[in-house]
Amino acid sequence: MPDVVISENITGPAMEELRQRFDVALEPELWRSPDRLLALVREARAIIVRNQTRVTAEVLAAGQRLEIVGRAGAGLDNIDTEAATRGGIVVSYAPNENSLSVAELTLGLMLALARRIPAADRDTHAGGWNRQQFTGVELSGKTLGIVGLGRIGRLVAQRARAFGMTLVAYDPLVDPQSPAVRNLEVRLIGLEELLATADCVTCHLPLVPATRALFDYQRFALMKRTAVFVNASRGEMVDEAGLIRALEEGRLAGAALDVRACEPPQRDQLAAMEQVILTPHIGAFTLEAQDRVVAAVCRDVTAVLSGEAAENHANFPRPQRGTELNPKNHSG
Ligand code: MLT
Repeated sequence: MPDVVISENITGPAMEELRQRFDVALEPELWRSPDRLLALVREARAIIVRNQTRVTAEVLAAGQRLEIVGRAGAGLDNIDTEAATRGGIVVSYAPNENSLSVAELTLGLMLALARRIPAADRDTHAGGWNRQQFTGVELSGKTLGIVGLGRIGRLVAQRARAFGMTLVAYDPLVDPQSPAVRNLEVRLIGLEELLATADCVTCHLPLVPATRALFDYQRFALMKRTAVFVNASRGEMVDEAGLIRALEEGRLAGAALDVRACEPPQRDQLAAMEQVILTPHIGAFTLEAQDRVVAAVCRDVTAVLSGEAAENHANFPRPQRGTELNPKNHSG
């Protein structure tokens, strides 16, 4: 039985090194088969996932020899980290490694909405040459509303400032007087005010109970009719029925969604809307970010399986061995 089970498509030079050191089962579609995952995890010492594998308390309890869950990404919403901590299992993730790529995609989506690049591209590919039809707007001089001023939100802020945008942000956890915020020249305001003021709203929050369906019809209805909404964080933060209704009523002008409430999504009205840009959760998918992410996770898996500490563990408090989920395994 393998030491390391990988349930999604995770490759790269660091993964090759890991495979040379340990017995690794790489099954890119395993996340689709919870029963097979349970069976494989039974004997594994490590599992490595992206965001599609549900690492539940049941999966963790089944892993009698499990020492570490490696999350090849930043979001932890698919992992029951509390159950892992109770069971003495390290959860290692890549908190910074893909932030820059997500920030760059966000700027790309903002520009694509402002200049209607996907629609112009489709029309031109089809033989059109309709310059007036694709008259857009500039980002310069517009107000960007950043919801969530963490690592990615700040990288977006720096880049948007270079485009000449005015920045406002909503983040109840951020101290407006902190030097980092003051250097960004971002004005922290309430969410409702941000929605009413911004020409573009972009979301960079983690998915937690308080942020689930944060953007619903009522909130979209507060936006300017000319404003657009960008989401490259987590799809579950948007009530998609509310967004569709708001777009149909012209309450906002457009949206760009890299993430969906259910992934992969069913084909729905959003896919048919000209003013909506859709991408398949590619924020973190650049060659550079993937190399960094996979290297960070493989480093921690190798460390833990060699009896050393993980660098990026997400558990709080640090996992204690010999606890309830894995009583047989962790005696040290
Ligand atoms: C992340 O959470 O790091 C990104 O959304 C990419 C991913 O989920 O794998």
